[in-house]
Amino acid sequence: MIPGYDKHSFGKKLNEVVSPSRPIISIENLIGRTEELDRIEKALFAPGRNVFIYGERGVGKSSLAATAANQWQSADAEYIDVSCSPDSTINSIVANIASQAVAAKWSTSSKIREQVSVRMKWLSYSLESETSPTDFSTKIKGLSDAVEVLKEVAALHSEVPVVVVDEVDRIADEKEIDLLADLLKQLGDKRIELKFIFTGVGTTLNEILGAHLSAIRQLETIELPRLSWDARWDIAIHALSIFEVEIPKDIYIRLAAVSDGYPYYVHLIVEKMLWLIFEKEEIVTKITWDDYYSALDKAIVGITAELSRPYEMAVNQRSRDYEEVLWSTSADEWQGAYLSDMHEQYVSIMTQRDGKDALSYDKFATRIRNLLKPEYGAILKKGQKKGYYHYREKMLRGYIRMQAEANRIEIISKEAEATIKNYMRVPAKNVGYYKSQPPRGYK
Ligand SMILES: Nc1ncnc2c1ncn2[C@@H]1O[C@H](COP(=O)(O)OP(=O)(O)OP(=O)(O)O)[C@@H](O)[C@H]1O
Ligand SMILES: [Mg+2]
Repeated sequence: MIPGYDKHSFGKKLNEVVSPSRPIISIENLIGRTEELDRIEKALFAPGRNVFIYGERGVGKSSLAATAANQWQSADAEYIDVSCSPDSTINSIVANIASQAVAAKWSTSSKIREQVSVRMKWLSYSLESETSPTDFSTKIKGLSDAVEVLKEVAALHSEVPVVVVDEVDRIADEKEIDLLADLLKQLGDKRIELKFIFTGVGTTLNEILGAHLSAIRQLETIELPRLSWDARWDIAIHALSIFEVEIPKDIYIRLAAVSDGYPYYVHLIVEKMLWLIFEKEEIVTKITWDDYYSALDKAIVGITAELSRPYEMAVNQRSRDYEEVLWSTSADEWQGAYLSDMHEQYVSIMTQRDGKDALSYDKFATRIRNLLKPEYGAILKKGQKKGYYHYREKMLRGYIRMQAEANRIEIISKEAEATIKNYMRVPAKNVGYYKSQPPRGYK
């Protein structure tokens, strides 16, 4: 148990500190992104400049965008938040922005309504007719209309308005991306002070935006890497410290390794950990290995099907020897891995599996190649170099590591070991985070 909480108050507090399925919105819970926040802030000071955050799925793009937007947006309104979909167009995005700006003011004084209907052609349209964003978007004919709408939005919404446009990579029509480039340029030229923070999934900006938009000078581009080791364990240390529970160093290092730099996994495991100790009879002040492994088991069950399904497809084959093969693919820290390296991992894994014989190299290689096929979950894809393989979905590696870990197989690469040693050598400012100061930038 955790003293001072009943189930309700505990659940509430818990969800303030761990949120596996929601982006972070406030700076005190955003760990390890001080540098990026600082860059965004400096970029936003520059007139006409906007921000584009890109990176792999699940690294924390939406969280960074939301936190930065909350910081920059003036207190007189909430920032405007638009999510893209395959059929999004510039018109639909602009209409959505307009309708949120209008909604924010709808209930305020009649003076504002009067001001809107007299002075703002576009927004009064939206206000009076109460048209839905879809109807409104058909009224916008061309880029100059879109610019005019946004000019009115900037004037109406708030003192310092911010717009987050999430998942730009989902927009299917390339023409719309070109239009977006033109729109941003015109907003800059016309000195319309509306700050945009975009996010997109991808490894390069060209891949998401094409050469045209990514060449725009007014766009500050931020490539978001996976979380650093200390940020990974800081999430756990920070969340547990709120409930005055300590996590030993050995355990948080394992947790950091298993999560593979994806905050989602850290949140998920810590969430399960906290419920587990809350439900114990005795007061818990320190996490044990048993707690860790139980939380891991529960986290695996709770993982989204998108990630667990490919794994199950690969494992549920007639020959029951795919699981160890899969684990052997997950040791590498970043890009992909060579077949020979994976085999080396495999041999070491098999020495930890009592009573199971290792496959021959050839059979192992066949299994690896099978993992490219859809009926085996399409876990891997071929790299450019011979014998080199990547994950099709990088985030899967964390899940595979969790599965290995739950089976008490330690997967940690030499590279990771070296990194950890480095952290431990420095008198770590953050390792004692538990009970220490809030993260830098906390207001
Ligand atoms: N810096 C951080 N510190 C702590 N938790 C974080 C951080 N960044 C993200 N998270 C958590 O990680 C999870 C994923 O974050 P988020 O949704 O922001 O990622 P994303 O890159 O936008 O993912 P997707 O590509 O799926 O849209 C969320 O649960 C969020 O709460
Ligand atoms: Mg996101």
